[in-house]
Amino acid sequence: MSKLLVINGSPRKNGNTARMLKTITDYCDKAGVETEFFQAGGNMVHGCIACGKCAEHKGECTFGDDFINELYQKVKAADAIVIGSPTYYGDVTTEVKALMDRIGFISGRDGRPLSRKIGAAVVSVRRCGGMHTLDTINHFYGINDMIVPGSTYWNMTLSRDIGDFEKDDEGVATITRLAENLVYLLEKLKG
Ligand SMILES: Cc1cc2nc3c(=O)[nH]c(=O)nc-3n(C[C@H](O)[C@H](O)[C@H](O)COP(=O)(O)O)c2cc1C
Repeated sequence: MSKLLVINGSPRKNGNTARMLKTITDYCDKAGVETEFFQAGGNMVHGCIACGKCAEHKGECTFGDDFINELYQKVKAADAIVIGSPTYYGDVTTEVKALMDRIGFISGRDGRPLSRKIGAAVVSVRRCGGMHTLDTINHFYGINDMIVPGSTYWNMTLSRDIGDFEKDDEGVATITRLAENLVYLLEKLKG
């Protein structure tokens, strides 16, 4: 059974980003994919301090007091990951930036286990800056040798208050199609 890990980078546990991610896990659950939802936003996290210790302790960051080492193991075990972020000042949240920097660095010194996993991004944006936010996450997939599926529009929703996602019909259709493409790709890659 293929495994999908979704990571919510918003501190709002039931906000628009979470709802987009749940739309994806609901679809994938029904299609027989094993799914897991990980709450990253709102939790304390360090930025990378470039200490290089992850090269010595293969697969482990020097910081043991936040969620990164746990999340890294989950990322390693997944066939596909979806990182979701709201747009904060035209970019990802602090938690998403920290997890990308640190998981990217740890995995680069641990035999590159992200290679050929599937990676998708979903973004919530009230008005402007969503493209940049989406690009930031897709850059992480690009440098980590990952495979990125698309949809019929860019994977974002125009939303501000919790629940606005469901009012954005085109956003819902875009995210649903992304979920279909994730399942399609997971099946193809499984051979
Ligand atoms: C600190 C902060 C910065 C934000 N910056 C932007 C921004 O640059 N552009 C924008 O359109 N919306 C911005 N927003 C609005 C959020 O992106 C929007 O409300 C989003 O739906 C929140 O997603 P969530 O419900 O998953 O938390 C910002 C919100 C916060 C709290």
